[in-house]
Amino acid sequence: MDNKFRAWYLSQEDKLTIAKLKKINIKDLMPADTIIKVVSSGINYKDSLALTGKAPVVRKFPMIPGIDLAGIIEDSNNPFFKRGDSVFATGHGMGELHYGGLSEYARIESEWLLKVPKQFSCNDVMSIGTAGLTAMLCVIGIEESGITPDMGEIVVTGATGGVGTFAIMILSKLGFSVVASTRKIYEEKHLIGLGAERIINSEVFNGTPRLVDKETWASAVDVIGGGTLSHIIAQTARGGVISVCGQIQGINLNTNMAPFILRGIKLLGIDSAYCKKEKREYAWGRLVELIDLNLIKPVITDISIDEVLLASNKIIEGKHKGRYIVNI
Ligand SMILES: NC(=O)c1ccc[n+]([C@@H]2O[C@H](COP(=O)([O-])OP(=O)(O)OC[C@H]3O[C@@H](n4cnc5c(N)ncnc54)[C@H](OP(=O)(O)O)[C@@H]3O)[C@@H](O)[C@H]2O)c1
Repeated sequence: MDNKFRAWYLSQEDKLTIAKLKKINIKDLMPADTIIKVVSSGINYKDSLALTGKAPVVRKFPMIPGIDLAGIIEDSNNPFFKRGDSVFATGHGMGELHYGGLSEYARIESEWLLKVPKQFSCNDVMSIGTAGLTAMLCVIGIEESGITPDMGEIVVTGATGGVGTFAIMILSKLGFSVVASTRKIYEEKHLIGLGAERIINSEVFNGTPRLVDKETWASAVDVIGGGTLSHIIAQTARGGVISVCGQIQGINLNTNMAPFILRGIKLLGIDSAYCKKEKREYAWGRLVELIDLNLIKPVITDISIDEVLLASNKIIEGKHKGRYIVNI
């Protein structure tokens, strides 16, 4: 395979990230046991941070970004996979420590791969991607903590974003009453269409939180962190559970012990990137059952590899809805 192919390539000059679409060769890829012809990738919040250099998510330069990829096996040392198999991978340091999916070819470890479920195409799994997997892991954590639909409302923050969109769809399909928290209140119809019972303006989580507040939520899926999470902790009902996966409003958390020891609430940290293979397989099995691809089509924007940086800037500005899928 001597031909050159295109890949987004991140380098650093004077601590500034430079993102360029470059032509590279297969020998330029990092060592690993499997070569994949990438068919589809996605742009997650983390990819946008990497491409724009807005936060130090890339831990090694140069880097090919892209924490998600789906494609066709070109060559593998693992006998479980054969040339032509449709496979996908998310996380595992791709786009941070190991060259990722925003490239026409990728060389990664077969241990990170799952086979594309027969009901789905490469584009379908990328439409769900890390965002859908993370939402599913948040919901599994809530279920495993014993939260049931009769216990009250579940709030989902960052509702029009990737994780938020899937969390609403999954929870409503499971019979929970979902309250979508968004800055874009003009998206009410869209969020109700996804399965939310009602929406709230995310401004309700601004200001200084009380030590404990009115018991409002049986549970929560929070992608925002910071001040938003401080309010949600204070408002979570006795025995409630909050799945947390994001830190858009900041990494620091201002809270206190009262909600934990007076109401016995739980904070569940969710990590999709290094989630064990058995759990990833279980979560994807649930996603196959629960996600209605027709419902997500309107929130998927298909773009070409050339449009990746433009889309990343929109995500950072919070101007997008749903997910960007990159047709490689
Ligand atoms: N732990 C993990 O394994 C894991 C996996 C995936 C993602 N994450 C993290 O989860 C977060 C969300 O990821 P995502 O892919 O869903 O991102 P996304 O598609 O960009 O969605 C985030 C949403 O948050 C809201 N938002 C954006 N900027 C905001 C701000 N400054 N203040 C308040 N709200 C804001 C917006 O929703 P509204 O306009 O509707 O309010 C936006 O659509 C990110 O921090 C990401 O890194 C973690």
